Amino acid sequence: LPVVVLISGTGSNLAALLRAAAVPGAPFEVVGVVADVPAPGLEHARGAGVPTAVVAMADFPDRAAWDRALADAVAALAPRLVVLAGFMRLIGAPLLRAFPAAIINTHPALLPSFPGSHAVRDALAHGVKVTGASVIEVDEGVDTGRILAQRAVDVLDDDTEETLHERIKAVEREMLVGVVTRLADAAAASDAAVLPADPAPS
Ligand code: GRF
Repeated sequence: LPVVVLISGTGSNLAALLRAAAVPGAPFEVVGVVADVPAPGLEHARGAGVPTAVVAMADFPDRAAWDRALADAVAALAPRLVVLAGFMRLIGAPLLRAFPAAIINTHPALLPSFPGSHAVRDALAHGVKVTGASVIEVDEGVDTGRILAQRAVDVLDDDTEETLHERIKAVEREMLVGVVTRLADAAAASDAAVLPADPAPS
């Protein structure tokens, strides 16, 4: 199954997907990586010989033009599944329309708790004892899509945002590879939309 990954940062989730895709017989292939900034994580793609593209907001007159350019860049790679892995922008209508029921996102909290771009900091500030990671289907909202998988991570008394986020990321990338693998296996069995109406519970 051809997969495009969108990133904005270090790309540890991307690196995990690339490692899994390199295993002989893997059911999915990363056919491209697109970023909104020259993200350090693009190095993982270059190292694996995977095409990359940067669609920077600053290069476009307005948000709508950027949304269209992002959709075009992703569509040019002809994926059947789009994975947001640390992509720090909202997905606009052009990309959502181009890939209905085929965009997933990984989030470092147990949604619906702590949506948005400071999930780990917010969980820590709230004093929760358990947080975790979620993989959701992307819709037009902010982290509001259907939940596909979740894993819990304990918060330790001496945790900082960094130590907690690193522990979450270790769980997160393993869960993301599992979800993409399951979706790819199921998609290989049919050419229906990659995100079936009711995916098997994780
Ligand atoms: C991940 O925890 C992701 O859920 C969050 O930002 C982090 C990105 O990490 N949005 P990386 O770029 O995959 O290392």
